[in-house]
Amino acid sequence: MKFFLDSAKLDEIEYAIKKWKIDGVTTNPRHLMNAGMTVENFAKEVKKLVEGTHITVSLEVNPHLDSPEEIVQEALSLAAISENFAIKIPATENGFEALAELSPKGVKVNVTLVFNMVQAVQAARLGAFYISPFVGWREERGEMNTDFLKQIVQAVKGYGYKSQIIVAAVRSGRHFIEAAMSGADIVTAGFEVYRRAFDNPYTKLGLQIFSEAWDSIYRR
Ligand code: E4P
Repeated sequence: MKFFLDSAKLDEIEYAIKKWKIDGVTTNPRHLMNAGMTVENFAKEVKKLVEGTHITVSLEVNPHLDSPEEIVQEALSLAAISENFAIKIPATENGFEALAELSPKGVKVNVTLVFNMVQAVQAARLGAFYISPFVGWREERGEMNTDFLKQIVQAVKGYGYKSQIIVAAVRSGRHFIEAAMSGADIVTAGFEVYRRAFDNPYTKLGLQIFSEAWDSIYRR
């Protein structure tokens, strides 16, 4: 399973690449707002961090665009900035029409805001590189995710589509478990979600116990 960081903060991205060896980055307009960046500035700066690596960065097209032609145009201009970029397009009728034009051109498309099986399969049929079901958002509205994820993975992989499933809007360790149990390819989570997971209090307690044992041996 691959770990992606969900953030547009350059310091977080740099840290996660260096220290955690993350495999990719995902952003959205809300992350850009939180980082105080435009998509153009972000693209220019993040490109420097990932150039020459295998790390992909998913950047979202302007959510106001309401025709497939406009989506295609913006996706092409973002994709031209870096080979590492994947372009996030919403799972709407117009988004799917844009996807059908972009995938044969070799653009890596991340179909985002996926909330049901039909959207996931349509994305796979039309050549999406990534498909992003939003588990955190579903859960906030009372939906369960375990079967939802399993069914999407089973359908997409079972029919032999190449799309990779990114479990998105991951908020907790339990979402990682659900993602892993479903066989999804990738998890994308925020900086603090990883930090909390890597900073387990039982691991710290264990280290304290072992340190005390160590000291009693070497002080003898
Ligand atoms: C993933 O690609 C999305 O950017 C993300 O997971 C959306 O969730 P959030 O903005 O609520 O964290």
